[in-house]
Amino acid sequence: MDPSPSVILSDICQRFDWPALFGNQNPVELDLGAGDGGFALAYAKQHPQINLLAVERLLGRVRKIEKRATRFKLGNVRVLRLEFGYTVRYLLPPGSVSIAHIMFPDPWPKRRHWPRRLMQPEFVRDLAVVLKPGGELRFTTDHAHYFETAQQAVTDAAVLRREPEWDWSNDPKTDFQQTFDAEGRATYRARWVKAV
Ligand SMILES: C[S@@+](CC[C@H](N)C(=O)[O-])C[C@H]1O[C@@H](n2cnc3c(N)ncnc32)[C@H](O)[C@@H]1O
Repeated sequence: MDPSPSVILSDICQRFDWPALFGNQNPVELDLGAGDGGFALAYAKQHPQINLLAVERLLGRVRKIEKRATRFKLGNVRVLRLEFGYTVRYLLPPGSVSIAHIMFPDPWPKRRHWPRRLMQPEFVRDLAVVLKPGGELRFTTDHAHYFETAQQAVTDAAVLRREPEWDWSNDPKTDFQQTFDAEGRATYRARWVKAV
C-alpha cells in the first residue's frame, strides 16, 4: 500500500530527510500555500519523476489534498499542515529544493496588511538557502501591487537572479486561477534562479 501523503512531524526542529519522506532520490518541488491542491495533484501526476511537498495551513484544504492524493494513488505527493515561513526556515534541508511554486498567495491588499505578505526579503533569503544551485522560485499572482512589491522583495534580498518566465503553457491551473480566469483577471508571473 502507498504511504500516507500526510507529513506527521515527530520533531518540529528536525529538518526533513527527503529520501526517507518520499522513498526515493527524485528532485523535490514545493507548492507553498497549496489551497485545495488542484495544482499540486495535477502537477505531480504530470511529473511522476519529481516529488512534490504541498504546504497549507487550513485543515479542510489539507484533508482534501490527502484524500485525493490517496484516491489517485499519487505516491510522489506529500502534504504538510504548517505555516510556510516556518517550514522553509526550519524544516527544509539547505540546498535541496529544485523548484518552489508560489501561486496566488494571499494578496493582503490593505496597506496596513502589506507586512503580512509572504514575499518579503527575509523570506526570500530563507527560500534561497533551501533551493539547490540552479533551483527556481516561480511566482504567480493576480494582484498588480503585490507583483510589484514581490519583485522589489527579491531585488532587496539580493540572493536570486531574475530569469525569463518559465513555459507555463502546460501547467495545470490552480483552483484560484480557474476562478480568476473565468473573471477575466490578469495574471502576473516571475521566475528567479539561485546561482549555480
Ligand atoms: C489565495 S490561496 C491560493 C491557493 C492556491 N495556491 C491556488 O492558487 O489555488 C492562498 C493559500 O495560502 C494558504 N496560506 C496563507 N498563509 C499561509 C501560511 N502562512 N502558511 C501556509 N499556508 C498559508 C491559505 O490558506 C490559502 O489556501
